[in-house]
Amino acid sequence: MQTRQLGSSPVRASVITFGAWAIGGAMWGGTDERKAIEAIRASIDLGITSIDTAPVYGFGKSEELVGRAVAGRRDEVQIFTKFGLRGDIAEGEYFFHLNEDGGADVYRNARKERIIEECERSLKCLNTDRIDLYQCHWRDHTTPVEETIEALVELHKAGKILAGGVSNFTAEEIDACRKVFPVASLQPPYSMVFRGIEADILPYCRTNNVGVIVYSPMQRGLLTGKFSPEHTFAEGDSRAGDRFFQPENIRRVNRMLDEMRPLAAEHKATLAQLVINWTVRQPGVTAALVGARDAAQARENAGALAFTLSDADLGAIDSLINHLVLE
Ligand SMILES: NC(=O)c1ccc[n+]([C@@H]2O[C@H](COP(=O)([O-])OP(=O)(O)OC[C@H]3O[C@@H](n4cnc5c(N)ncnc54)[C@H](OP(=O)(O)O)[C@@H]3O)[C@@H](O)[C@H]2O)c1
Repeated sequence: MQTRQLGSSPVRASVITFGAWAIGGAMWGGTDERKAIEAIRASIDLGITSIDTAPVYGFGKSEELVGRAVAGRRDEVQIFTKFGLRGDIAEGEYFFHLNEDGGADVYRNARKERIIEECERSLKCLNTDRIDLYQCHWRDHTTPVEETIEALVELHKAGKILAGGVSNFTAEEIDACRKVFPVASLQPPYSMVFRGIEADILPYCRTNNVGVIVYSPMQRGLLTGKFSPEHTFAEGDSRAGDRFFQPENIRRVNRMLDEMRPLAAEHKATLAQLVINWTVRQPGVTAALVGARDAAQARENAGALAFTLSDADLGAIDSLINHLVLE
Protein backbone atom coordinates (compact mmCIF):
# COMPACT_ATOMS: atom_id res chain seq x y z
CA MET A 1 0.00 0.00 0.00
CA GLN A 2 1.28 3.46 -0.90
CA THR A 3 2.18 5.78 1.98
CA ARG A 4 2.28 9.59 1.82
CA GLN A 5 4.17 12.05 3.98
CA LEU A 6 2.11 14.28 6.27
CA GLY A 7 3.30 17.83 5.64
CA SER A 8 7.03 18.11 6.32
CA SER A 9 6.86 15.70 9.27
CA PRO A 10 8.55 12.30 9.45
CA VAL A 11 5.11 10.66 9.65
CA ARG A 12 3.63 8.85 6.66
CA ALA A 13 0.03 7.72 6.36
CA SER A 14 -0.98 4.72 4.31
CA VAL A 15 -3.40 6.01 1.69
CA ILE A 16 -6.02 3.88 3.41
CA THR A 17 -5.63 4.37 7.13
CA PHE A 18 -7.63 2.27 9.58
CA GLY A 19 -10.22 4.37 11.45
CA ALA A 20 -10.92 3.08 14.94
CA TRP A 21 -13.97 5.14 16.00
CA ALA A 22 -16.66 2.50 15.48
CA ILE A 23 -14.72 -0.21 17.30
CA GLY A 24 -14.85 1.95 20.43
CA GLY A 25 -18.55 1.05 20.49
CA ALA A 26 -20.01 4.30 21.85
CA MET A 27 -22.32 6.03 19.33
CA TRP A 28 -22.10 2.89 17.17
CA GLY A 29 -24.37 0.55 19.16
CA GLY A 30 -21.56 -1.38 20.88
CA THR A 31 -18.49 -3.29 19.81
CA ASP A 32 -17.24 -6.86 19.49
CA GLU A 33 -13.66 -6.75 20.82
CA ARG A 34 -12.46 -9.94 19.18
CA LYS A 35 -13.75 -8.87 15.76
CA ALA A 36 -12.32 -5.37 16.22
CA ILE A 37 -8.84 -6.72 16.92
CA GLU A 38 -9.13 -9.07 13.93
CA ALA A 39 -10.12 -6.10 11.73
CA ILE A 40 -6.99 -4.17 12.70
CA ARG A 41 -4.68 -7.18 12.29
CA ALA A 42 -6.19 -8.04 8.88
CA SER A 43 -5.63 -4.43 7.81
CA ILE A 44 -1.96 -4.54 8.83
CA ASP A 45 -1.54 -7.88 7.06
CA LEU A 46 -2.78 -6.18 3.88
CA GLY A 47 -0.33 -3.30 4.07
CA ILE A 48 -2.16 -0.64 6.06
CA THR A 49 0.50 1.09 8.12
CA SER A 50 -1.45 3.74 10.03
CA ILE A 51 -4.33 3.66 12.50
CA ASP A 52 -6.41 6.61 13.68
CA THR A 53 -8.05 6.57 17.11
CA ALA A 54 -9.01 8.95 19.94
CA PRO A 55 -9.48 8.75 23.71
CA VAL A 56 -13.13 9.77 23.35
CA TYR A 57 -13.89 6.74 21.13
CA GLY A 58 -15.52 4.52 23.75
CA PHE A 59 -13.71 6.56 26.45
CA GLY A 60 -10.47 4.61 26.13
CA LYS A 61 -11.88 1.41 24.60
CA SER A 62 -10.74 2.17 21.05
CA GLU A 63 -7.19 3.11 22.13
CA GLU A 64 -6.99 0.00 24.30
CA LEU A 65 -8.07 -2.25 21.41
CA VAL A 66 -5.59 -0.59 19.05
CA GLY A 67 -2.82 -1.18 21.63
CA ARG A 68 -3.80 -4.84 21.97
CA ALA A 69 -4.07 -5.34 18.21
CA VAL A 70 -0.61 -3.95 17.46
CA ALA A 71 1.16 -5.63 20.38
CA GLY A 72 4.28 -7.30 19.02
CA ARG A 73 4.10 -5.39 15.72
CA ARG A 74 4.20 -1.78 16.90
CA ASP A 75 7.02 -0.96 14.48
CA GLU A 76 4.83 -1.90 11.50
CA VAL A 77 2.35 0.90 12.22
CA GLN A 78 2.08 4.57 12.96
CA ILE A 79 -0.51 5.46 15.55
CA PHE A 80 -2.54 8.65 15.18
CA THR A 81 -4.56 9.69 18.20
CA LYS A 82 -6.16 12.87 19.46
CA PHE A 83 -6.79 15.05 22.48
CA GLY A 84 -9.19 17.74 23.59
CA LEU A 85 -12.54 16.02 24.16
CA ARG A 86 -13.24 15.29 27.83
CA GLY A 87 -16.18 13.49 29.40
CA ASP A 88 -14.68 13.38 32.87
CA ILE A 89 -14.33 17.07 33.74
CA ALA A 90 -16.79 19.90 33.15
CA GLU A 91 -14.21 22.41 31.93
CA GLY A 92 -13.73 24.17 28.60
CA GLU A 93 -16.39 24.51 25.89
CA TYR A 94 -19.55 22.38 26.23
CA PHE A 95 -19.86 20.16 23.14
CA PHE A 96 -22.56 17.47 23.44
CA HIS A 97 -24.19 14.94 25.74
CA LEU A 98 -23.30 11.31 25.27
CA ASN A 99 -26.12 9.03 26.41
CA GLU A 100 -24.12 5.84 26.71
CA ASP A 101 -22.23 4.29 29.65
CA GLY A 102 -24.34 6.15 32.20
CA GLY A 103 -24.16 9.39 30.20
CA ALA A 104 -21.57 12.14 30.09
CA ASP A 105 -21.35 15.77 29.09
CA VAL A 106 -18.48 16.06 26.64
CA TYR A 107 -16.40 19.27 26.67
CA ARG A 108 -13.85 20.56 24.23
CA ASN A 109 -10.81 21.14 26.42
CA ALA A 110 -7.52 21.97 24.76
CA ARG A 111 -5.76 23.60 27.70
CA LYS A 112 -2.06 22.93 27.86
CA GLU A 113 -1.91 21.09 31.20
CA ARG A 114 -4.91 18.92 30.22
CA ILE A 115 -3.25 17.93 26.94
CA ILE A 116 -0.05 16.90 28.72
CA GLU A 117 -2.17 14.82 31.11
CA GLU A 118 -4.23 13.27 28.27
CA CYS A 119 -1.10 12.32 26.37
CA GLU A 120 0.17 10.26 29.32
CA ARG A 121 -3.19 8.49 29.53
CA SER A 122 -3.22 7.70 25.82
CA LEU A 123 0.34 6.35 25.94
CA LYS A 124 -0.76 4.02 28.73
CA CYS A 125 -3.99 2.97 27.00
CA LEU A 126 -2.16 2.32 23.73
CA ASN A 127 0.63 0.56 25.60
CA THR A 128 3.29 2.47 23.71
CA ASP A 129 6.02 5.04 24.35
CA ARG A 130 5.28 7.35 21.44
CA ILE A 131 2.33 8.73 19.50
CA ASP A 132 3.19 9.23 15.85
CA LEU A 133 0.59 11.90 15.12
CA TYR A 134 -1.14 13.80 17.95
CA GLN A 135 -4.18 15.79 16.81
CA CYS A 136 -6.45 18.37 18.40
CA HIS A 137 -9.86 16.71 17.95
CA TRP A 138 -11.99 19.89 17.88
CA ARG A 139 -11.10 23.54 18.40
CA ASP A 140 -11.78 24.64 22.02
CA HIS A 141 -12.88 28.27 21.69
CA THR A 142 -12.22 28.92 25.40
CA THR A 143 -8.48 28.29 24.95
CA PRO A 144 -6.20 30.37 22.71
CA VAL A 145 -4.97 28.20 19.88
CA GLU A 146 -1.39 29.22 20.72
CA GLU A 147 -1.71 27.60 24.18
CA THR A 148 -2.94 24.36 22.61
CA ILE A 149 -0.07 24.29 20.15
CA GLU A 150 2.48 25.04 22.88
CA ALA A 151 1.54 21.69 24.42
CA LEU A 152 2.41 20.01 21.13
CA VAL A 153 5.76 21.78 21.04
CA GLU A 154 6.52 20.52 24.56
CA LEU A 155 5.41 16.95 23.86
CA HIS A 156 7.42 16.92 20.66
CA LYS A 157 10.55 18.12 22.48
CA ALA A 158 10.03 15.38 25.08
CA GLY A 159 9.90 12.75 22.31
CA LYS A 160 6.37 11.67 23.22
CA ILE A 161 4.93 12.63 19.83
CA LEU A 162 6.51 12.59 16.40
CA ALA A 163 4.17 15.14 14.81
CA GLY A 164 1.15 17.29 15.58
CA GLY A 165 -2.04 17.82 13.63
CA VAL A 166 -5.54 19.24 13.95
CA SER A 167 -9.03 18.05 13.17
CA ASN A 168 -12.20 19.97 12.26
CA PHE A 169 -10.26 23.28 12.12
CA THR A 170 -10.90 26.10 9.65
CA ALA A 171 -8.16 27.39 7.33
CA GLU A 172 -7.80 30.51 9.51
CA GLU A 173 -7.36 28.37 12.63
CA ILE A 174 -4.73 26.21 10.94
CA ASP A 175 -2.94 29.37 9.88
CA ALA A 176 -2.77 30.56 13.50
CA CYS A 177 -1.38 27.16 14.60
CA ARG A 178 1.27 27.13 11.88
CA LYS A 179 2.77 30.31 13.28
CA VAL A 180 3.76 28.30 16.40
CA PHE A 181 4.29 24.74 15.14
CA PRO A 182 4.49 22.99 11.74
CA VAL A 183 1.04 21.41 11.50
CA ALA A 184 1.54 18.05 9.78
CA SER A 185 -2.09 17.38 8.91
CA LEU A 186 -5.74 18.28 9.07
CA GLN A 187 -8.49 15.73 9.60
CA PRO A 188 -11.77 16.96 8.07
CA PRO A 189 -14.98 15.14 7.06
CA TYR A 190 -15.19 14.29 3.35
CA SER A 191 -17.20 11.94 1.19
CA MET A 192 -19.03 11.82 -2.14
CA VAL A 193 -22.05 13.31 -0.36
CA PHE A 194 -20.20 15.80 1.87
CA ARG A 195 -17.73 17.82 -0.18
CA GLY A 196 -17.58 21.15 1.64
CA ILE A 197 -13.77 21.12 2.03
CA GLU A 198 -13.23 21.34 -1.71
CA ALA A 199 -14.00 25.08 -1.70
CA ASP A 200 -11.36 26.37 0.70
CA ILE A 201 -9.79 23.79 3.01
CA LEU A 202 -8.30 21.50 0.35
CA PRO A 203 -6.73 24.37 -1.64
CA TYR A 204 -5.36 25.92 1.58
CA CYS A 205 -3.75 22.66 2.67
CA ARG A 206 -2.26 21.99 -0.76
CA THR A 207 -0.73 25.45 -0.92
CA ASN A 208 0.70 25.22 2.57
CA ASN A 209 1.86 21.59 2.56
CA VAL A 210 -0.55 20.41 5.26
CA GLY A 211 -1.55 16.73 4.84
CA VAL A 212 -5.29 16.04 4.59
CA ILE A 213 -6.50 12.77 6.10
CA VAL A 214 -10.24 12.73 5.47
CA TYR A 215 -12.76 11.06 7.76
CA SER A 216 -16.03 9.17 7.17
CA PRO A 217 -15.32 8.61 3.44
CA MET A 218 -18.17 6.09 3.25
CA GLN A 219 -20.39 8.49 5.20
CA ARG A 220 -20.40 6.08 8.15
CA GLY A 221 -21.22 3.08 5.93
CA LEU A 222 -24.08 4.70 3.97
CA LEU A 223 -22.07 4.68 0.72
CA THR A 224 -21.59 0.92 0.81
CA GLY A 225 -25.21 0.76 -0.37
CA LYS A 226 -26.16 -1.75 2.34
CA PHE A 227 -28.78 0.37 4.13
CA SER A 228 -32.45 0.26 3.21
CA PRO A 229 -34.70 3.19 4.14
CA GLU A 230 -36.45 0.84 6.62
CA HIS A 231 -33.23 -0.05 8.45
CA THR A 232 -33.51 -0.28 12.24
CA PHE A 233 -30.32 0.68 14.02
CA ALA A 234 -29.06 -1.00 17.19
CA GLU A 235 -29.71 0.90 20.40
CA GLY A 236 -27.07 3.58 20.88
CA ASP A 237 -26.14 3.76 17.18
CA SER A 238 -26.12 7.50 16.52
CA ARG A 239 -26.63 6.97 12.80
CA ALA A 240 -30.36 6.64 13.66
CA GLY A 241 -30.49 10.40 14.27
CA ASP A 242 -27.98 11.36 11.56
CA ARG A 243 -29.35 13.48 8.70
CA PHE A 244 -27.71 11.27 6.08
CA PHE A 245 -29.51 8.19 7.39
CA GLN A 246 -33.05 9.60 7.29
CA PRO A 247 -35.18 7.29 5.08
CA GLU A 248 -35.62 9.75 2.21
CA ASN A 249 -31.88 10.45 2.08
CA ILE A 250 -31.01 6.74 2.16
CA ARG A 251 -33.45 6.28 -0.74
CA ARG A 252 -31.83 9.07 -2.78
CA VAL A 253 -28.27 7.93 -2.07
CA ASN A 254 -29.16 4.34 -2.97
CA ARG A 255 -30.59 5.51 -6.29
CA MET A 256 -27.29 7.25 -7.04
CA LEU A 257 -25.30 4.20 -5.95
CA ASP A 258 -27.41 1.95 -8.19
CA GLU A 259 -26.23 4.04 -11.11
CA MET A 260 -22.63 3.54 -10.01
CA ARG A 261 -22.90 -0.23 -9.72
CA PRO A 262 -22.09 -0.96 -13.40
CA LEU A 263 -18.87 1.05 -13.10
CA ALA A 264 -17.92 -0.83 -9.93
CA ALA A 265 -18.65 -4.13 -11.70
CA GLU A 266 -16.51 -3.07 -14.66
CA HIS A 267 -13.56 -2.77 -12.25
CA LYS A 268 -14.56 -6.00 -10.43
CA ALA A 269 -14.99 -3.83 -7.34
CA THR A 270 -17.66 -3.42 -4.68
CA LEU A 271 -19.35 -0.07 -4.11
CA ALA A 272 -17.32 0.40 -0.91
CA GLN A 273 -14.12 -0.08 -2.93
CA LEU A 274 -15.26 2.30 -5.65
CA VAL A 275 -16.11 4.95 -3.06
CA ILE A 276 -12.76 4.64 -1.25
CA ASN A 277 -10.83 4.63 -4.53
CA TRP A 278 -12.64 7.79 -5.70
CA THR A 279 -11.97 9.50 -2.35
CA VAL A 280 -8.21 9.08 -2.40
CA ARG A 281 -8.06 10.21 -6.05
CA GLN A 282 -9.43 13.65 -5.19
CA PRO A 283 -6.80 16.40 -5.52
CA GLY A 284 -5.37 17.36 -2.15
CA VAL A 285 -6.54 14.26 -0.28
CA THR A 286 -3.50 12.63 1.33
CA ALA A 287 -5.25 9.62 2.85
CA ALA A 288 -8.70 8.34 3.78
CA LEU A 289 -9.53 7.16 7.29
CA VAL A 290 -11.74 4.13 6.77
CA GLY A 291 -13.58 2.35 9.58
CA ALA A 292 -14.20 -1.41 9.70
CA ARG A 293 -15.91 -3.54 12.31
CA ASP A 294 -14.49 -6.94 11.36
CA ALA A 295 -11.85 -8.63 9.22
CA ALA A 296 -14.16 -9.10 6.22
CA GLN A 297 -14.92 -5.38 5.98
CA ALA A 298 -11.25 -4.55 6.60
CA ARG A 299 -10.14 -6.85 3.76
CA GLU A 300 -12.71 -5.44 1.37
CA ASN A 301 -11.66 -1.89 2.18
CA ALA A 302 -7.94 -2.62 1.96
CA GLY A 303 -8.54 -3.98 -1.55
CA ALA A 304 -9.98 -0.69 -2.76
CA LEU A 305 -6.86 0.43 -4.59
CA ALA A 306 -6.44 -2.62 -6.81
CA PHE A 307 -7.81 -0.74 -9.84
CA THR A 308 -7.44 2.70 -11.43
CA LEU A 309 -10.35 4.96 -12.25
CA SER A 310 -9.88 6.64 -15.64
CA ASP A 311 -10.59 10.33 -16.21
CA ALA A 312 -13.81 9.27 -17.94
CA ASP A 313 -14.79 7.18 -14.87
CA LEU A 314 -14.07 10.12 -12.55
CA GLY A 315 -16.16 12.41 -14.74
CA ALA A 316 -19.08 9.95 -14.79
CA ILE A 317 -18.97 9.63 -10.99
CA ASP A 318 -18.84 13.40 -10.57
CA SER A 319 -21.87 13.88 -12.74
CA LEU A 320 -23.87 11.34 -10.66
CA ILE A 321 -22.80 13.00 -7.41
CA ASN A 322 -23.59 16.47 -8.73
CA HIS A 323 -27.16 15.42 -9.51
CA LEU A 324 -27.78 14.22 -5.96
CA VAL A 325 -29.83 16.53 -3.76
CA LEU A 326 -30.36 15.55 -0.14
CA GLU A 327 -33.02 16.78 2.29
N1 LIG B 1 -11.90 13.77 13.68
C1 LIG B 1 -13.17 13.53 13.76
O1 LIG B 1 -13.96 14.33 14.28
C2 LIG B 1 -13.68 12.24 13.19
C3 LIG B 1 -15.07 12.05 13.03
C4 LIG B 1 -15.49 10.86 12.44
C5 LIG B 1 -14.56 9.90 12.06
N2 LIG B 1 -13.23 10.11 12.27
C6 LIG B 1 -12.21 9.09 11.88
O2 LIG B 1 -12.49 8.58 10.58
C7 LIG B 1 -12.66 7.16 10.66
C8 LIG B 1 -13.62 6.68 9.59
O3 LIG B 1 -14.88 7.33 9.70
P1 LIG B 1 -16.21 6.58 10.13
O4 LIG B 1 -15.87 5.36 10.90
O5 LIG B 1 -17.09 7.62 10.74
O6 LIG B 1 -16.92 6.26 8.75
P2 LIG B 1 -16.66 5.34 7.48
O7 LIG B 1 -15.25 4.92 7.41
O8 LIG B 1 -17.26 6.10 6.36
O9 LIG B 1 -17.62 4.10 7.79
C9 LIG B 1 -17.22 3.09 8.65
C10 LIG B 1 -18.37 2.14 8.92
O10 LIG B 1 -18.98 1.65 7.75
C11 LIG B 1 -19.27 0.25 7.87
N3 LIG B 1 -18.40 -0.43 6.90
C12 LIG B 1 -17.06 -0.24 6.71
N4 LIG B 1 -16.59 -1.01 5.72
C13 LIG B 1 -17.63 -1.68 5.23
C14 LIG B 1 -17.77 -2.62 4.20
N5 LIG B 1 -16.73 -2.99 3.46
N6 LIG B 1 -19.01 -3.12 3.96
C15 LIG B 1 -20.08 -2.74 4.69
N7 LIG B 1 -20.00 -1.86 5.70
C16 LIG B 1 -18.79 -1.32 5.98
C17 LIG B 1 -18.92 -0.13 9.30
O11 LIG B 1 -20.02 0.06 10.19
P3 LIG B 1 -21.26 -0.95 10.35
O12 LIG B 1 -20.76 -2.33 10.02
O13 LIG B 1 -21.71 -0.76 11.74
O14 LIG B 1 -22.28 -0.46 9.34
C18 LIG B 1 -17.86 0.90 9.64
O15 LIG B 1 -17.73 1.12 11.01
C19 LIG B 1 -13.10 6.94 12.11
O16 LIG B 1 -12.93 5.60 12.52
C20 LIG B 1 -12.20 7.91 12.84
O17 LIG B 1 -10.90 7.37 12.92
C21 LIG B 1 -12.79 11.28 12.81
